[in-house]
Amino acid sequence: LISTALTRQFQLTHPIVLAPMGAISGGKLAAAVCNAGGLGLLGGGYGDADWVRRELAEVKAGTRRPWGIGFITWSLTAPVLEVALADTPHAVMLSFGDPRPHAPRIKASGARLICQVQDLEGARIARDCGADFIVAQGTEAGGHGASRATLPLVPAVVDLVAPIPVIAAGGIADGRGLAAALMLGAAGALLGTRFYATHEALGSPNAKRAIAAANGGQTLRTRVFDVVRKFPWPEVNTGRAIRNTFTDRWHGREGALGAALETESAKYWEANAKGDVGTSVVWAGEAIDLIREVEPAAEIVTRIGTDAARLLRAGARLLET
Ligand SMILES: Cc1cc2nc3c(=O)[nH]c(=O)nc-3n(C[C@H](O)[C@H](O)[C@H](O)COP(=O)(O)O)c2cc1C
Repeated sequence: LISTALTRQFQLTHPIVLAPMGAISGGKLAAAVCNAGGLGLLGGGYGDADWVRRELAEVKAGTRRPWGIGFITWSLTAPVLEVALADTPHAVMLSFGDPRPHAPRIKASGARLICQVQDLEGARIARDCGADFIVAQGTEAGGHGASRATLPLVPAVVDLVAPIPVIAAGGIADGRGLAAALMLGAAGALLGTRFYATHEALGSPNAKRAIAAANGGQTLRTRVFDVVRKFPWPEVNTGRAIRNTFTDRWHGREGALGAALETESAKYWEANAKGDVGTSVVWAGEAIDLIREVEPAAEIVTRIGTDAARLLRAGARLLET
């Protein structure tokens, strides 16, 4: 099996982290990933205190292994962070926005601080505020992100922040991706989209089926879902989702969408409530080519971990003459 700074820190069997997908990575999914030997992070998202309380209880009831929680930094408030810290997570992940206001409190709690970054400037800030692990997230990722690609970004961040361990994210969904991430110098991989298509993930069955059915070329980075939901995301952060009739109509016409918000927002939320993925968003990354069925999370952790170990061993054969 694979041993890295990540597996040693959290006593993991496999160097695999469940991404804290807002409203998707609930306590059941996080606990399943932990129990299979990965690190499960609850998706604290925009910091709904009731959601956070409920799912914290669920993960604590579901596993005795180390677990954590992630938040969207620009939306995180001190009171919601305190709700999470009261349950003594082993790790807190911050992503999208300046981690410096919250970093000292997280570090003082004894939790490991994980910062997800999309570029070298973000990596420098994460390093300087004391991050214990830095997730280098490439543009292939599902959900929000930016423009740098995983393959060149990960080793550049590794070089910049050494000796802080780096975790690769964006476009990794099987053992080949994990093995490649380790070769780039990462201590493990953080996966979102692959774990969305699991029985334990929250979210509609329609969304999970859409992920299993679509290919990476059917995804795009867009702001239209944030415009229609009126979420104040920073301009640099687009979200990768599966194309649908909503993106066909509005992507590239964000101004017109903004002008039609009154009616479009109501229609959007109605579709969302019905699980209509023709209109409402399914965040998903380019690696959906590699996802063909909805599976139990534990099987995914075990398969990706053991496949990566086998591939690393087999890789030595490339050197035989
Ligand atoms: C459905 C979904 C929701 C996400 N929500 C969040 C979130 O709330 N906070 C966050 O830091 N990252 C979020 N992400 C991004 C993940 O942290 C991670 O970078 C990404 O999933 C990795 O790429 P992959 O999807 O190709 O595995 C989300 C991703 C997906 C697919």
